[in-house]
Amino acid sequence: MPRCDLLLTGAHLATMAGSEPYGLIDDGAVAIDGGRLLWVGAAADLPADLEPRRTVECGGRLLTPGLVDCHTHLVWGGDRLDEFELRLTGVPYEEIARRGGGIVSSVKATRAADEEELLRTAGRRLRALAADGVTTVEVKSGYGLELETERRCLRAARRLAERSPGVRVRTTFLGAHAVPPEFKGRSDDYLATVIDEMLPAVASEGLADAVDAFCEGIAFSVEQVDRLFTAARDLGLSVKLHAEQLSLLGGAELAARHGALSADHLEYLDEAGVRAMAEAGTVAVLLPGAFYMLREEQAPPVALLRQHGVPMAVATDLNPGSSPVHSLLVTLNLACLLFGLTPDEALRGATCHAARALGLGDEIGTLEAGKAADLALWDVRTPAALVANLGDRPLATRFVAGRADDSAFDGRLDGARP
Ligand code: NIG
Ligand code: FE
Repeated sequence: MPRCDLLLTGAHLATMAGSEPYGLIDDGAVAIDGGRLLWVGAAADLPADLEPRRTVECGGRLLTPGLVDCHTHLVWGGDRLDEFELRLTGVPYEEIARRGGGIVSSVKATRAADEEELLRTAGRRLRALAADGVTTVEVKSGYGLELETERRCLRAARRLAERSPGVRVRTTFLGAHAVPPEFKGRSDDYLATVIDEMLPAVASEGLADAVDAFCEGIAFSVEQVDRLFTAARDLGLSVKLHAEQLSLLGGAELAARHGALSADHLEYLDEAGVRAMAEAGTVAVLLPGAFYMLREEQAPPVALLRQHGVPMAVATDLNPGSSPVHSLLVTLNLACLLFGLTPDEALRGATCHAARALGLGDEIGTLEAGKAADLALWDVRTPAALVANLGDRPLATRFVAGRADDSAFDGRLDGARP
């Protein structure tokens, strides 16, 4: 065994690999070289000839894969706080959208914001996620709904990756999020613009890793999404879909037919949809923050998803309207309490299964030799503490490609042991 840049010893590892709960290895060690995991295992099995340039003793702290937030809309302008107040008086989310509020109201504010402003506000939201141990985040456009603003949002999202704290960013083009005001009553015409003008431009500029749509009565039909996905796949882009959030339209089945990476929300999903997703290997992304904020009553069919072996991811859906939720750890707690996931399922949902929902299952999401050294080190010993202790932020430090968050690393480790 050769030299390595860094050896972490004395950590409890939740590798999230294999079928044992959390893939636990007590008293484990991790060797990192060139930004990747070189070796992962029990400290007792550490190769004797390993020559680390630096060794850090973790004092019995928990080490997990860096968390992956696989569904956010974190670039937007303005706010929708008036709608939060309105919903509390009993006005439903769909009614607000029909009155010209909702997504369209964020579109107006986002069109008015320049790229620096979008980058600044998105950066602040990203720091909140990173403080929860997030090392990879997916960011959707969808508050521009015309080429220039969609581009601006996607560019801002890509630029987030260059800033501190280090986070990997995957971008998703969500031009089919809503029908913009200038196309009111002409959703087919707007969709034609998305397919013929916006999508090819965004694809040729390399601004998007995937294409998403909102398949719902207040947005786009299954037939319209079918057209969009056919065009996206012709351009070589992956697809994913907001499906069955407020009603059952068959979007999940359509997504599966297109080999989608994920179908997301899924409160109204039926067994035919579950079967189709299982066959296609489409991940179910559960978004309990939106369910909670909209005070929905129908939870996604978790028992059926389990029974058919559909991998379940969990994400914040961070957005200005249905889910202004800035914490993935809080979201994991909601997934257990509101949807009945076990803490092990919830953590898989924010690691290995979330990675798969982004097409990054071979690269991140578990602690296994060969994968990127994206890690979260916590001031707790037991994985369930990450899910149970609502509002706690026990992160000691994060590593992205083997690099620790600068200020936190050594200082925190000198402190009290968990
Ligand atoms: O994931 N469902 C559609 N899109 C977002 C809502 C965005 C918004 O309300 O601004 C969602 O919940
Ligand atoms: Fe969403």
